[in-house]
Amino acid sequence: MNTLEIKDVSKFFPFGRGRRIEVLADVSLTLPAAGTLTISGSSGSGKTTLLNVIGGLAQPTSGGVWWNGKSIYADSRAGLTQWRRQTVGLVFQSYQLMPELSVLENVLLPAAFRRHDASRSAAELLEQVGLKNRIQHRPTELSGGEQQRVAIARALINNPALILADEPTGNLDPANSEVVLRLLLDLVRKQHKTLVLVTHDDSIAQRMDLRYRLIGGKLSRDL
Ligand SMILES: Nc1ncnc2c1ncn2[C@@H]1O[C@H](COP(=O)(O)OP(=O)(O)O)[C@@H](O)[C@H]1O
Ligand SMILES: [Mg+2]
Repeated sequence: MNTLEIKDVSKFFPFGRGRRIEVLADVSLTLPAAGTLTISGSSGSGKTTLLNVIGGLAQPTSGGVWWNGKSIYADSRAGLTQWRRQTVGLVFQSYQLMPELSVLENVLLPAAFRRHDASRSAAELLEQVGLKNRIQHRPTELSGGEQQRVAIARALINNPALILADEPTGNLDPANSEVVLRLLLDLVRKQHKTLVLVTHDDSIAQRMDLRYRLIGGKLSRDL
């Protein structure tokens, strides 16, 4: 069973002349091997920073992240990149699809250098997110909710154990938010993955198995 442990993570950012702000202060967290976890907090509280640290995208100033007992940031740059490709799927608030590629090509992108049979998996994933008939379209021809469903398929293409979603419904109207959220929860639960979802919406947080909140750089458990 996979484990991801965040231990005593602090993250400082420099600003102005020789000054720095502490965005994360001694944050520790063990992710469940499967299930859903949310990180809440007001804007600027460090949610994205913490998600980036968890996903191998931002090295902490001190402390570390261990995947199955191995420190991910102690690895080489290439090793870290490979770990991230295999283990982590990312979903962003603003979808971040490539406009010049088709829906199918967007989903294939993280798999490009890995597998030959990936087209079939990508088509299957697009069917699961309800976009079977749109695979040759460009992202700009889709609604926001549909684009986010493409991004979810893209996040799953390498069959990652961990899905990190940063305010994934932040740009969507309530009806599309509901569709996207339900889809994410459904896929994660069916495939026994771990979802870490960042939100500042309490009604979304309430639907996750575990709830944490960032205040003043400190992470605490929420009821
Ligand atoms: N690369 C960076 N350089 C300097 N400051 C940063 C950087 N990234 C984030 N910050 C600062 O860290 C704080 C937390 O940012 P962020 O993690 O994006 O918060 P949230 O996602 O909760 O809104 C903010 O004050 C932000 O300005
Ligand atoms: Mg953020």
